[in-house]
Amino acid sequence: SNTVLAQKAKSPVAPDYERLEQILKDAHQKFAADKSGSPADYIPELAKVDPELFGICVVTVDGKVFSVGDVNHTFSIQSISKVYTLAMIMDQMGQQAILDKLGAEPTGLPFNSVTAIEQQPTRVGNPLVNAGAIATTSLLDGESEKEKWEEILAFYSACAGNELTILNDVYESEAATNGRNQAIARLLQAYGVMYNDPEEAVDLYTKQCSVGANTEQLAAMGATLAADGTNPFTGENVISPDNVPHILSIMLSCGMYDYSGTWSYITGLPAKSGVGGGIVAIVPGKGAIAAFSPRVDAAGNSVRAQKAIAYISKQLQINIF
Ligand code: DON
Repeated sequence: SNTVLAQKAKSPVAPDYERLEQILKDAHQKFAADKSGSPADYIPELAKVDPELFGICVVTVDGKVFSVGDVNHTFSIQSISKVYTLAMIMDQMGQQAILDKLGAEPTGLPFNSVTAIEQQPTRVGNPLVNAGAIATTSLLDGESEKEKWEEILAFYSACAGNELTILNDVYESEAATNGRNQAIARLLQAYGVMYNDPEEAVDLYTKQCSVGANTEQLAAMGATLAADGTNPFTGENVISPDNVPHILSIMLSCGMYDYSGTWSYITGLPAKSGVGGGIVAIVPGKGAIAAFSPRVDAAGNSVRAQKAIAYISKQLQINIF
C-alpha cells in the first residue's frame, strides 16, 4: 500500500493522505463506543477527567499533521516521560551506562512492582518501569533540583516543538499519594542503584510525569524519535541520532509494561503508554501515531488508544518487521 506511514523511502509515488485520514476516522468511530477499562484513580486527580475524551493524531517526519477527535485536550503524559528522560541520560552518559546503571530487560511485572526489584539482577529492570525511571531521573546533571527540572521541561518541549508546562493539580495530587514510589526509591538506594537523593529523584520524576501535552503534541514528540531525533516542526536535532535505535528498542520490549510482548506481536511498533491515557507509537523514518483516551486496562494502558493504534498499524501494514 502507498499510505503515508507505509510508503517506502524515496518512493516516486505521492503518499495517499486521503486514505490515512479515512483510516484515522474509522479507528475513532470503531473504538469510541468501547467503554471498557476505567480512568486510573490511584492518582486522585486522574479520576476527575472526562472518560469519553478520545483523540488520535499522526505527525509525519516531514511535519504533516492528521488529527481526529479530542486532539487539543491536554492530559498528563505520565510514564511517556520516561522515554524522554532516558534520552537525556543516554545523551549525557552514553549507551553503555544505560546497561551498566539501569538495565534493559522487561520485568514481566506491573510498572510499579517491588517484586521486580527483588528479582531482577540490575534491580531497576529498565528505564521504562517506575523503579528504572526514578533511577534514570536520579542520574540527571545539574546544580539544583530547580535547574534539573528546567532542563527536563526544556528538553521535553524541544521534543514536542512546543512549549509544554506542568499540570499542577496532577502533580500535587500524585505528590500527596506517591508513597509507593518513595518506597521504591528508598529500596533502590539500599541496593546501591539510586544515584542521587531519593526524595529529589521521586519529586522530579513526579513532576516529569505531570507534564501536560495534547495528542498532537504527543505525536510530535513521537515524530522526533521517528526522525532520528530531529523535531519535524522546528528542525532542531534534540536527541542524538545514534541513540534513537536504542531508545526505540527499549520501547519495543518494555514500553507497554507487562503487555509489551503481546503489543509487539500485534503491532510491531515501539510504543509508550502513560496512565493519563496517552500512547505514542513510532514508525521509524516515517512518523508517529499518538492516541489518547482516559480509560486504562489492568496494565495501565489506555484501552481505546491501544486498539486505535493497533487498528491503524494493521490497516497501513506498518509493522516494522
Ligand atoms: O509513577 C506513577 O505511578 C505514574 N506517575 C506513572 C505511571 C504510569 O504512567 C504507568 N503507565 N502506564
